[in-house]
Amino acid sequence: MSNDLRELRAAVLARTDRRRRLHVLGVAQEIDTLALRWGADRGQAARAALLHDVTKGLTPAEQLKLCAKYDIVTQSWERTEHKLMHAVTGAAVARFEFGAEEAVCAAVRWHTTGRAGMTLLEKLLYLADYVDATRVFSEARALRALCYEDLDAALLRGLDLSIQFLLAERRAIHPDTMAARNALLTR
Ligand SMILES: [Fe+2]
Ligand SMILES: [Fe+2]
Repeated sequence: MSNDLRELRAAVLARTDRRRRLHVLGVAQEIDTLALRWGADRGQAARAALLHDVTKGLTPAEQLKLCAKYDIVTQSWERTEHKLMHAVTGAAVARFEFGAEEAVCAAVRWHTTGRAGMTLLEKLLYLADYVDATRVFSEARALRALCYEDLDAALLRGLDLSIQFLLAERRAIHPDTMAARNALLTR
């Protein structure tokens, strides 16, 4: 691991609570194996994984403060679904506080909802976040295997699982998630 990466890891972990630390390290481990499998840039993959939940522990009020600070225009979606906001603020913090490159910021931005036409790095982060070693539900194990066989099939399966979960909970489904799924089915 490079010195830059080691520093980034220490900086991110310092502002992450213990439970989430295990998840973040799990995602970093998973995305590294996925990057090797699919020929992605391992440095970018590591930075994306380390930064992806950097603002997740913040309160909604703290998230909104970051939005004001970085001129982020939030949709009503992000304001009501706290879970969605951390992807948007996380991308801004990755860029402005950690100097992460565009590709890494985009992966952080889209790791929760997905979007139509995802890049390889975006797909890898979305999936690594879903199947890292701290996710022990049975679907995660099957999905992890699929990630190494057929990346787009795994992505479609991940999106399906998310949508099924949201339907079961009677929660709103973000249009970007639907667009991500439709794009895979209508290529
Ligand atoms: Fe997240
Ligand atoms: Fe995560």
